[in-house]
Amino acid sequence: MKFDIFTLFPEVFQPYIDASIIKRARQNGLVEICLHNIRDWAFDRHHTTDDTPYGGGGGMVMKPDPVFSCVEDVLGSDFSIPLILMTPQGRPFTQQVAKELSDFPHIALLCGHYEGVDERIREHLVTDEISIGDYVLTGGELPALVILDAVSRYIPGVLGDPTGAEDDSHASGLLEYPHYTRPPIFRGWSVPDVLLSGNHAEINKWRHEQSIQRTAKKRPDILEKYKKEHIE
Ligand code: ADE
Repeated sequence: MKFDIFTLFPEVFQPYIDASIIKRARQNGLVEICLHNIRDWAFDRHHTTDDTPYGGGGGMVMKPDPVFSCVEDVLGSDFSIPLILMTPQGRPFTQQVAKELSDFPHIALLCGHYEGVDERIREHLVTDEISIGDYVLTGGELPALVILDAVSRYIPGVLGDPTGAEDDSHASGLLEYPHYTRPPIFRGWSVPDVLLSGNHAEINKWRHEQSIQRTAKKRPDILEKYKKEHIE
């Protein structure tokens, strides 16, 4: 899967994409990440990418011309590629949205900065808007990394585990069950017997019950949704 990322700060991405699972996915050719510096398409003497808002008020607004030029040069006229603006006004990012985006062979992420982007970018260039939560960050770079990471986990082969992202918290609509590894007793605290029993039917049953209990305790809001979808 290919990700084109449009940003004023490409250097923010490099350490993350050069580490751990995303690094391996890139090396194995499963994920391709192309970073594009919007400033390279600002053709005035000072390479200006932002300006003061019409009508006054504080902050700066990202100018439309470098953003349009950059996106059009890179994506050409392929309108099948979703171009997603990172913005606190976007639709909420969830596990479901991550899965949905992983069905595309190619997506593009546009990182806003400063107070926001000129509205014509929203109206005439982007095809989707996503928020990673109800808080405001200084730019769309961290949200783009969040999306890149969560989507990549759905690409077959990216996770070493053959069950992939299926068992994750939120994938089933419930939080994930507790995990244990060696040693069986640590500082007097034991691993639950059932996990050492070798009885996979019992283990699956225990894990499902734990998921329900955990979700009821920590996220009663999502348990209600799960019950509606699975029981009623
Ligand atoms: N840009 C600034 N804050 C954001 C958020 N919460 N989600 C996506 N993009 C953003």
